[in-house]
Amino acid sequence: MENVVEEIKKRIDIVDFIGSFILLKKTGRNFKALCPFHQEKTPSFIVSPERQIWHCFGACNDGGDIIKFLMKWENLTFFEALRELAKKAGVQIKKIDFEDRSWEKKKRFLAMNQLAADFFQFALLKTDYGKKALDYLSQRKIKAPTIKTFNLGYAPMSWNSLYSFLKKKKYEEEQMLENGLLVRSESGGFYDRFRGRLIFPICDPRGNIIAFSGRTLIENDKEAKYINSPETPLYHKRETLFGFHLAKDAIKKANNVYIVEGEFDMISPYQAGFYNFVAIKGSALTKEQLMILKRYTERITLTLDADVSGLEAIKRGIEEAEKFDFDINVVVLDFAKDPDEAVKTNFKKFKDLIKTPIGVYDFLINFTLKKYPEKTVYNKKKISEELIPYLSGIKNNIVQSHYIKKLSSLLEVTEQSIQNLIKRNLLNKKRRLEFIPLKKSHDKQSHMILVERYLLSFIFQNNSPFTISDLVFSIILPEDFTLISLKKLAKKFLEFKENNKEFSLEKFINFLPEELRPVFDEIYLFASMDIDLGKENIRKIAYEIKKNSLKQQIKKIISLEDQKENKEKLRFLGKLLKEVEKKLISL
Ligand code: CTP
Ligand code: MN
Repeated sequence: MENVVEEIKKRIDIVDFIGSFILLKKTGRNFKALCPFHQEKTPSFIVSPERQIWHCFGACNDGGDIIKFLMKWENLTFFEALRELAKKAGVQIKKIDFEDRSWEKKKRFLAMNQLAADFFQFALLKTDYGKKALDYLSQRKIKAPTIKTFNLGYAPMSWNSLYSFLKKKKYEEEQMLENGLLVRSESGGFYDRFRGRLIFPICDPRGNIIAFSGRTLIENDKEAKYINSPETPLYHKRETLFGFHLAKDAIKKANNVYIVEGEFDMISPYQAGFYNFVAIKGSALTKEQLMILKRYTERITLTLDADVSGLEAIKRGIEEAEKFDFDINVVVLDFAKDPDEAVKTNFKKFKDLIKTPIGVYDFLINFTLKKYPEKTVYNKKKISEELIPYLSGIKNNIVQSHYIKKLSSLLEVTEQSIQNLIKRNLLNKKRRLEFIPLKKSHDKQSHMILVERYLLSFIFQNNSPFTISDLVFSIILPEDFTLISLKKLAKKFLEFKENNKEFSLEKFINFLPEELRPVFDEIYLFASMDIDLGKENIRKIAYEIKKNSLKQQIKKIISLEDQKENKEKLRFLGKLLKEVEKKLISL
């Protein structure tokens, strides 16, 4: 297997290959492009000919080799992409190459899930004990064809019915456990995860069953209303949209997707003939889900519950969705609890409402105005404070200008005043990316990590990494980096430098232990993102890192129980910190 992959990579150059899909521009050692997997205006997609890898530093923050690229481009599985590339490269794949362990395992897990779904459906439709679940479904107005379409089922109220069933089909406990169907008990035994619940199979975009969720049939159950499969080799919650495999064609056709919050909220509209609905479970709309949707539609319509959590979901969804340049609309179903209830209680009203969504920013403006109804000057201030972060996140100038105008006229203030607030907000955001200390220590740390990656990246990308690193490592030590992976990488680099006269990328990669190579790859491409740094800046960044490291060390000692022992150390670190701060001021 390894050999086939290596052989293919040797024969197909990544720059030629990706360059046949998108326009690549040479910048320094690497190539840059607008990322094909999300919408953007400044390129953050980097291809390295030396490493034969690509990485998107924008919204995707994802990367890999040619195989991974083709998988994403054509929405293929690993083996499909491999087969296609092998054909292109003229590499023979023997049958044995396909007996890849992880693939075999996936196939086996998918088959196990299909069996489990069949088992659950049999219990629902053909047994006495399934009758109460069937009654429940009919009470919720779910019809027989819908049960079939969604493969609904019932998990018997038993500790081991599925377990024994799968056992007979020659599956091992460990596999059922890893696939999320069993739970390990405290005594070390196993029991069925889903018991006495209505079962919804969860599918991947191709319709393979990758997980399950189960709803209790008991009103006000003291246990959770829904129980879900955990993360498994097949199921990644962040990438999954319930019902997508049934909805994707309709989504493409309509160039719109209605996003709802729960299985029934997707199923009921589907049953009523609204096919471009998908459901998220719980309330966060993730980057991964948006990336999948982006291939099918430019428009999303958030159709969420009319409660507070729905509003929160909308707010959180906006920022990610803006990154992908979606048109974002909102449907507010004010006459029902959720889409499931709405479509059943008043089909006509539901139909009319979903046909007339409002822009998400109109929704937010209206909502905020209602929250502070009196037009006092301080309410105006509050309203603008709450809305500015959203308005300044709008990517498109026309759309943004439209809402600036709207808000200013509603508040009876000048457009300029709103524009100024937006500018200030953007400036603050930008500063965060530059090297200015932040208020929140959490932000500060992630900011420092960014700076550290940047600095290492800059060293590796430099024409003479050894020379530039002399400057850097006269100020900091590998231990000063925040992340262990960066500490290790820096240590390895210095070790390499000890033993080699010149820096060679290939030699260095071979020198690195396996686990550090992906870290290196990611870092190596990172600096292509930005402008050149002068020597002064390098020094400044190094001192910033040193300062942060010293502060962290001091904080750690202060938090220790017995500070006496460390008094000497504390004094020493404090002195160092003062020196570093002095240096920073003088730079
Ligand atoms: N959910 C979950 N786990 C829970 C509760 C909810 O995974 N313990 C998910 C389910 O997918 C659920 C969705 O969040 O459908 C929304 O929850 P909620 O609004 O509480 O339920 P409804 O969708 O209205 O569920 P139902 O109509 O079955 O009562
Ligand atoms: Mn509901």
